[in-house]
Amino acid sequence: MTSAPSPLALVPFVSVENMMKLVHHIGLEKFLTDLTDRIEVDYWRWQDFDKTARIASHSKEGVIELMPTSDGEVYGFKYVNGHPKNTRSGLQTVTAFGLLADVNNGYPVLLSEMTLLTALRTAAASAMAARHLAPDHATTMAMIGNGAQSEFQTLAMKAVIGIQTVRLYDTDSKATEKCARNLAGHGLQVISCSSPEEAIQGAEIITTCTADKQYATILTDNMVGSGVHINAIGGDCPGKTELHRDILMRSDIFVEYAPQTRVEGEIQQLDTDHPVTELWQVVTGEKPGRTNPRQITLFDSVGFAIEDFSALCYVRDQLKSTGYFQDLDMLADPDDPRDLFGMLHRAR
Ligand SMILES: NC(=O)c1ccc[n+]([C@@H]2O[C@H](COP(=O)([O-])OP(=O)(O)OC[C@H]3O[C@@H](n4cnc5c(N)ncnc54)[C@H](O)[C@@H]3O)[C@@H](O)[C@H]2O)c1
Repeated sequence: MTSAPSPLALVPFVSVENMMKLVHHIGLEKFLTDLTDRIEVDYWRWQDFDKTARIASHSKEGVIELMPTSDGEVYGFKYVNGHPKNTRSGLQTVTAFGLLADVNNGYPVLLSEMTLLTALRTAAASAMAARHLAPDHATTMAMIGNGAQSEFQTLAMKAVIGIQTVRLYDTDSKATEKCARNLAGHGLQVISCSSPEEAIQGAEIITTCTADKQYATILTDNMVGSGVHINAIGGDCPGKTELHRDILMRSDIFVEYAPQTRVEGEIQQLDTDHPVTELWQVVTGEKPGRTNPRQITLFDSVGFAIEDFSALCYVRDQLKSTGYFQDLDMLADPDDPRDLFGMLHRAR
């Protein structure tokens, strides 16, 4: 006879359904703002974390990655994929899940969906970067690539930076229609554009968030005027970039973790010693962010493990008060810890 699992066997699990309930309970824009602040707090204590470039398994169609880190008390990792052709067969480009564990005993303390949470944390990390790098009082953003991440990116820039207008462009007009429909009623002026040139008109922030497994040129040098902040999200794998190299040469470049970004980011197109600033140095005041209104700043985002760690910790902190989780019977818990076999044997 099998008995009910003991409390030691149980790990809180946040399903997609519960993540959606949690986001609505907190409010999407508040969730994005809280997450931005939470990531920034962890960037402040950058030195506390184990840092390693993510471990990527590349294939012809995409990549599967593991993203681990630890602050010495809590360990976390995310599993995430990137498969640009997936949407053609009804699958998403990016899916993810993640886990937190207690460093002292190695026991998992949270398992969570992270497909939604990745979109939220990526948008929050972009907003945090923009807080330090975008021109003061920016009100207009161009959003190039109107897929799964795009509404999250837009609403984080609204909530954190205060943008009032978004100019949308995607090679697939259906994606733009979807994005415009989803953003209606969120207090933004939404303008659908038919070319990237049109989309960037008047934009102080240009976000590129496209998916294609190639060296793409979403923006060319002549399109980018002085003073803008470029938030480049989609170039995040070897051989997968979005910006023409000449733009990089005119920009001050900010990255999450240089050893990872030099392999995966826009800067894979540059010499390996090209100067870049890690964002935590700007957050802590060690290095300047934007220093003048004519400067082109570029956040060469690829996504870093500490941002996922921050997001998972934020979610974990909300669970007790909201109850939006289930207990999963995930850890074997024999009465005698050394009698794992006996537990199996008695369950026949
Ligand atoms: N930096 C990060 O932390 C991070 C996190 C998540 C996703 N990403 C990356 O962001 C990208 C977008 O992710 P998603 O989930 O929104 O993907 P998605 O497939 O849902 O959307 C991508 C959109 O880009 C459009 N597109 C492709 N080529 C284009 C072009 N040349 N010009 C304009 N639009 C173009 C497609 O039509 C599609 O609508 C992916 O490359 C993904 O790997 C990065």
